[in-house]
Amino acid sequence: MRCLDALLPALCPGLSRGPGRVVELGLGSMPWTSLELSEALRRLNPELALLAVDTDPERVRLATAMGLEARTGGFGGLPRSRLIRCMNVLRQYPVDAVERAHSLLIEALEPGGVLLEGTTDKGGHHGVAWVLGAEPGLLFWTDFTRGFAPRMFQGPLPRDLWRSGRLDVLFADWTARWEASQGTPRQRFLASAPGRVLAPGVVLSPAPDPS
Ligand SMILES: C[S@@+](CC[C@H](N)C(=O)[O-])C[C@H]1O[C@@H](n2cnc3c(N)ncnc32)[C@H](O)[C@@H]1O
Repeated sequence: MRCLDALLPALCPGLSRGPGRVVELGLGSMPWTSLELSEALRRLNPELALLAVDTDPERVRLATAMGLEARTGGFGGLPRSRLIRCMNVLRQYPVDAVERAHSLLIEALEPGGVLLEGTTDKGGHHGVAWVLGAEPGLLFWTDFTRGFAPRMFQGPLPRDLWRSGRLDVLFADWTARWEASQGTPRQRFLASAPGRVLAPGVVLSPAPDPS
């Protein structure tokens, strides 16, 4: 997820300016991703405050002991935020919980704020996330640890895109361009990417049509 941390200024330009709140929803058994996010935000803009939120009080207690501002909570009732990151949380939920969760999270954004919600593979080497807010999009990223082929993104999709068919055309076109490309995984990613390439291995696609 360090790859995502480095992209935050491109995904949410407002983060660089003035005081603001960032929420990480979902800590995990150890709050490593939140600690890394906290460090990345400090480097970007020391006036940003990170709040880590989890439904599990034990995880919140641990995060607090490790120096994070953390509290128990869920999708609703979050403070006004410039950025909310919610990774690998909704994959545990039924698909019909997603729309409500997205609305609650978007409601908590300040004007111009961004919600990043999605899923990574097990090691966090590649993933797919909704970028919701003013300009909705779908972010695909890989650090190339596992090489690159478009189909690698069909596993870690945001919950509401699993088996939805909404990305069939995108993946078919992407695969055709990838098959026609040559070179290293990085070069083939660049040659076939289905949208704006933000960094090596990172592409922001327009949001797919609703189902
Ligand atoms: C798989 S971990 C993800 C940790 C981290 N975000 C990552 O990507 O590595 C999921 C975490 O989300 C928490 N969680 C589940 N539902 C939640 C909700 N509605 N609000 C906040 N946290 C939630 C779980 O307790 C767990 O700590």
